[in-house]
Formats: sequence, structure tokens, C-alpha cells
Amino acid sequence: MPTSPWYHKTSIYQIYPRSFYDSNGDGIGDIQGIIQKLDYVKQLGFETIWCSPFFASPQADSGYDISNYTDIAPEYDASSDALQLIEEVHKRGMRIVFDMVMNHTSIEHSWFEESRSSRDNPKADWYLWRDSPLPKLGEGLGVRGKPNNWQSMTGGSGWHYVQERNQYYWASFLPFQPDLNYRNPEVKRTMLDTVRFWLGKGVDGFRLDIFNVIFKDAEFRDNPFSFKFLPTETDPSAFFQEAKYTINQPESYEFARELRSVCDEFGEKLLLGEVSGGRSVIRKFMGAQKNDGLTLVFDFEMMNFEFTADYFRELIQSIETYFPNPFMPVYVFSNHDRARSIRRLGNDVRKAKMLHLLQLTVRGVPCMYYGEEIGMTNLKLPFAAALDPIPHKFKSIPRFIFDLLGMTINRDEVRTPMQWDASRNAGFSSAEKTWLPVNPNYETINVESEDKNDGSLLDAIRALLKIRSEHTALRGGSLELIDGLPDDVLGYRRRSEEEEISVLLNFGKSEKHFQFKSEDCIFRLSEQDDWKNGEIKLSGYGGMIPRDCFSQA
Ligand code: GLC
Ligand code: CA
Repeated sequence: MPTSPWYHKTSIYQIYPRSFYDSNGDGIGDIQGIIQKLDYVKQLGFETIWCSPFFASPQADSGYDISNYTDIAPEYDASSDALQLIEEVHKRGMRIVFDMVMNHTSIEHSWFEESRSSRDNPKADWYLWRDSPLPKLGEGLGVRGKPNNWQSMTGGSGWHYVQERNQYYWASFLPFQPDLNYRNPEVKRTMLDTVRFWLGKGVDGFRLDIFNVIFKDAEFRDNPFSFKFLPTETDPSAFFQEAKYTINQPESYEFARELRSVCDEFGEKLLLGEVSGGRSVIRKFMGAQKNDGLTLVFDFEMMNFEFTADYFRELIQSIETYFPNPFMPVYVFSNHDRARSIRRLGNDVRKAKMLHLLQLTVRGVPCMYYGEEIGMTNLKLPFAAALDPIPHKFKSIPRFIFDLLGMTINRDEVRTPMQWDASRNAGFSSAEKTWLPVNPNYETINVESEDKNDGSLLDAIRALLKIRSEHTALRGGSLELIDGLPDDVLGYRRRSEEEEISVLLNFGKSEKHFQFKSEDCIFRLSEQDDWKNGEIKLSGYGGMIPRDCFSQA
């Protein structure tokens, strides 16, 4: 059997640089701070680090608005620090991927400043510029509309007027994030060269920001009407229109393969796409026939998981159908844009342990957001004071509506500083004021206290990552669901050439007993989870990796 590439066997830890560790006391996390905490990530057991962007940026969208792709923002240190980070990660036998925002730049990027200055400058065609159409019969005299009916991903028209050109530019996300024009070969070449630049510096790949909107319809046709108002993970259509011509265009699937071939020039590189649109769309970005597109793609549908055995059984079944070997799924339950996963669990640490037992043993690459390992929670913050631009866009809508819908509109709430210990600012920074407030629950929820506590979430995750690293069945083996288990119990068997490992999870709150031959156990969530005489006992929200008597694991 051919060996699978490293990026299909790895485990990913997402660092949000601004909130990880502040090394110089200015209240903002930085690259040297990440370097100082690399041993923590290593000891925890993650093999790959993904850093959200730390490139030059006015920070209007916390770094997802880049003004120079090869420079580092001054508050995060210098370019030499980024190179040192790559080196330090590699020294520890880990890998690192950077965040590549290819779709758009910041409005302050010199490319855009040039492009917007006139209709005939050398970069005039680097962005998507359109004239306003002549008014149609019946429209007010002299009133010119937007170039077409397209809505941005955040709602409202994504067309923005620039006086100098008497034209509109297109922005898929927020007005200060103009989309690059990938139909211009010079733009495409420049961006692929940016990718080569960082690969040349040794990064092991990229997480790809809103990769599925890179191409828009070449003819700028109007999007059709839809009854849908809010976007969902499986269907980006929203604000009463079907995203037919703005998202998931065939050229974007093609581009995934082109980007992959550029990365292949440098060896096995990870390309982790941010894509919305459901599993069939995700599959197209990975490559319809073989995995010759993006190497991994997030599957955000599972962010809205229900904590039941049935939900996860169906999820796993569906994922196994869409992403059979040699494709590899990603299991992700939160990130810098979505609620902290423990919120969906009513902040119940026992359930969080189970969720991560599943995440770290199922067939797929786990991707964990910083702080998940200690059970960091959302911090409720007022919209009016938000640094995140999104809540400002929706401030006319009462907050309770979003709360009822379970939507995290103010992303500041999930980006608060990492909680290292119970000292001031949770040990994140020595500054008077940190860039975002520290969650007051840091006195109990922090790395130091969980580190000392054998039954903690941190302890469980560390143990599971270790087990994962030691067993080929868990890293790359096949998966088969186990039938005939009691209600509320989910079980699956992982199998490699060398071994076979079963995982059993009780999603119910009552204890379960069932026949299952086991001589020993590799891991259990609680000491109440037990095995005896061919019978397994799982406590409420218990979980176990038994040592099957017929396996050599
Ligand atoms: C992605 C990022 C998000 C950012 C947006 C625009 O969804 O994860 O943080 O605001 O793209 O770049
Ligand atoms: Ca700092």
C-alpha cells in the first residue's frame, strides 16, 4: 500500500497570533510570543501549527486585510522573526502553515491604491472594476445603479464606488477588502509567486482564506432570487439571492489544481481550504477523481453538531462516503470566526472531553483552535465596542436575535487572550491593557491549573494525541462503524495493516453495559468506564478505547 502523505496523518493546532502570547508587554500577542510557547504545543502533541495572518495590514479585519504579503505587521515583529518561527517549529519536528488570503487585499495595498487611481494605470485591471449600467426605463433620470445585483457575503451590495475611475470595485467580504482579478494572468502569476516566496522560506503549506470565492462569473450575470435570508454552512446563498455566480465557480476548482501543482514544486505541502457549500463542493475542491486539488478542506457543517450518537454516526457515514481514501476529511469544531465548541455543550467539560476523544480518533485530520484544549469559553462583549467590523454592520438588529439563532456575530468573543495561568491577564501579557479583554474565568480555566490536574480536559487531549501518534490505525487507518451497540453509544473500529483499534463513546447521561470483548484498555475518559468478563461499562458521557482481544494494538 502506498504510504499516505504527512498532511493526511497530521494534527493541526490553530494559533491566533494576536491572542496567543505577548512577549514584549504591549498587550498584543506576537511572533516571539508564539516561539516562546512552541514547547507547549509540542508537549501537547500537535504536529502542525496554523497561524492566522500576521502580515502587514491595517487590521481592519484583524489581519485578513493584507497590505503586503511578504512583510510582517510591525506589532508582530519583523520578517526575520517569521523566518525564525519556521525554523524553531522545524527544530521541534513540527510543521507550520501560514494563512494565505488570496481572494482580496486590503484597500491600503499599494496594488489597490494604484489600481483605483485611474482607468489606465498598469494595475488598472488587477481588481474587478465595472461601470455602472445606464438607468433603465422607469428609473430616476440620472440615477445609476450598481453594476449588478450581487450581494457580498456579509450582506448588502459588494460593489463600491470610486470617484477617480467613476467605477465600482467588487468586494466579496467587507468594503475594505477588494477582490483581486484572477482572470488577469499577471495577478495570478504574482499571487502564485507569493505562494512560492513563502514555500521557498520553508513553510509547510497554507490555510486558504475564503478560497471558494476566488473566481466570479466572467460575464457578471445577476444572481437569481432565493427565499434564503441567512447563509448556512452547506449553502452560501443568502440575503434573498442564490450565490450562483459569485461563489463556487468551476474556475475556482480548476485553480485549486493549479495551486496544488505550484506547491508540488516544493514537495508535499499542505493546502487547507476554507470553503462553504457542503460536501460535494468540498470534494470538487479536493479533486473530483483523485486528490489532485486542495489536500484538505474544512467541513464547517459539523460546527453545528448535535451532541448525540445519531448525529455523529450520520456525520461519519456521510464523510466516509464523500471522502474515501485517498481523500482525507478534516474534523473541526471551532475557529476564530465561530463559537467556541464548548458553548454547544453547555460549557460541560465532560462532553468536551468526549467531543475531542471523537475528534482525535476518527478517520480525519483534527484541527483544534487555541484554548479549546482547556475549554476556553465565549466571552460576551458589547457589539458597540467591538474591534471586529462584523457586529458594527448588524448593530441595528437586537443582539438577542443572534443569540437565539446561536450565531456568534461579534468574533472578538472567541478571540480573547489565551489563558496560561491564574496571574494577571491570565499570564498572556504584562501590559496594563490587553488588545481584547481576558475572559474573567481565567482564574479557573487556564493551562497551569489543568496541567496539574490528572482528570482535566487538557490532560485528556494530551493523552489522546500521544495515543494517536503511536498507532497507525488512528493516524491513517480505515474506519468502520460498529453495529449493535446500545442506544446513545457510538462505536467505530479503525484498522491499519498492523493493528485494529475500537473507540466507544456514550452520548447518554446514564450508564451503559454491553457485550464487548476487551482484555485491557488503552484509554478511558473516566475511571468509571470499565471492562470485565467480556462486558464493557460506560459511565454517562463516558468513552473508552478498549484493547480488543483480537487486535494487537
Ligand atoms: C475568512 C476568515 C475571516 C475573515 C474573512 C475575510 O472567513 O476566516 O476571519 O474575516 O475570511 O478574509
Ligand atoms: Ca506584543
